[in-house]
Amino acid sequence: MIVLLGATGYIGRQFAAALEAQGWPFVAPSRAEVDYTRFGVLRAYLGRTKPDFLINAAGYTGKPNVDACEQNRADTLQGNALFPATVAHVCASLNIPWGHVSSGCIFSGAKVAVLGRGRVERDLTQPSMALMLRQNRGAFQGFTEEDEPNFSFRRPPCSFYSGSKALGEEAIQGFGQHYIWRLRIPFDQFDDPRNYLSKLQQYPKVYENVNSLSHRGDFVTACLELWRRRAPFGVYNVTNPGFVSSSQVVEMIQKILKPRRAFGFWASDEEFYRVAAKTPRSNCILDVSKLLATGVPMRPVEEALADALQKWSPRS
Ligand SMILES: NC(=O)c1ccc[n+]([C@@H]2O[C@H](COP(=O)([O-])OP(=O)(O)OC[C@H]3O[C@@H](n4cnc5c(N)ncnc54)[C@H](OP(=O)(O)O)[C@@H]3O)[C@@H](O)[C@H]2O)c1
Repeated sequence: MIVLLGATGYIGRQFAAALEAQGWPFVAPSRAEVDYTRFGVLRAYLGRTKPDFLINAAGYTGKPNVDACEQNRADTLQGNALFPATVAHVCASLNIPWGHVSSGCIFSGAKVAVLGRGRVERDLTQPSMALMLRQNRGAFQGFTEEDEPNFSFRRPPCSFYSGSKALGEEAIQGFGQHYIWRLRIPFDQFDDPRNYLSKLQQYPKVYENVNSLSHRGDFVTACLELWRRRAPFGVYNVTNPGFVSSSQVVEMIQKILKPRRAFGFWASDEEFYRVAAKTPRSNCILDVSKLLATGVPMRPVEEALADALQKWSPRS
């Protein structure tokens, strides 16, 4: 039996739906029923329920976006760093293997090969990088699970949210048996304020950048599949292979959904941060070779995006 924490959230709901559809027995206590953020409460609950596996899809995300985490720093630290540490200690003390939903937002940029030499480029929006992206996409490689986060409290600048997620990973590494599943900019066919495809259609202006993305259903299926196959514990980047720019995704929206509205873009980073955003945003490319090497399939990002848009179901 599986215990699912965070089942009321955007990602937790997908885990609940997938567990249900795949016939895995599970229980999903709400925080109101069982305050699972408290060591003693969680330990007593897991001692009683004796799960084979635990999924932690709970965390503090900030609404409507990460800027809210700057105002709610205590909740952000509690939800993303202290809370996973609590789960890790409880699970280690009861010998329960578990999986933690982390985020790719602890990285910025990509690894870029320039004149045969690889280096990390934190900002992919600068003109030389934009040109290179058009002319030589093959020069761009994602961060692997071996790379140290470069958008964190230890490697500032970063947003408070990203810093707290990196600290959460640090707090649970090195003991117990667990997966760290890194999710990045979730999307699927269901119109939702948390869905990247919904967000792009609602922003007054789009921020142009380059990212790896995770189809929400593909992400959850892959995480469950790692456990089903008893893949080695550890960190996994769980994104759809490849990367896309915001303008590429907008083009796909225009082609497939044919919206009546026109899309505009912020003229520059300077304008975006002056008008629309308070804290630095992570934009990054992740490498998924480790996940693919386990045999867990993931569709290329363009295919997953086209599929989501072809099945698009708008909110009524
Ligand atoms: N959505 C994204 O874009 C995204 C991207 C990368 C990674 N992630 C990570 O994925 C996980 C789930 O995100 P989500 O988008 O599903 O978030 P969400 O929709 O905001 O749901 C958050 C879930 O966590 C619980 N929660 C909220 N504050 C908490 C706290 N301080 N301590 C413990 N639990 C708390 C909520 O429970 P209640 O109902 O009881 O409040 C809810 O079940 C988070 O760890 C997030 O960092 C999300």
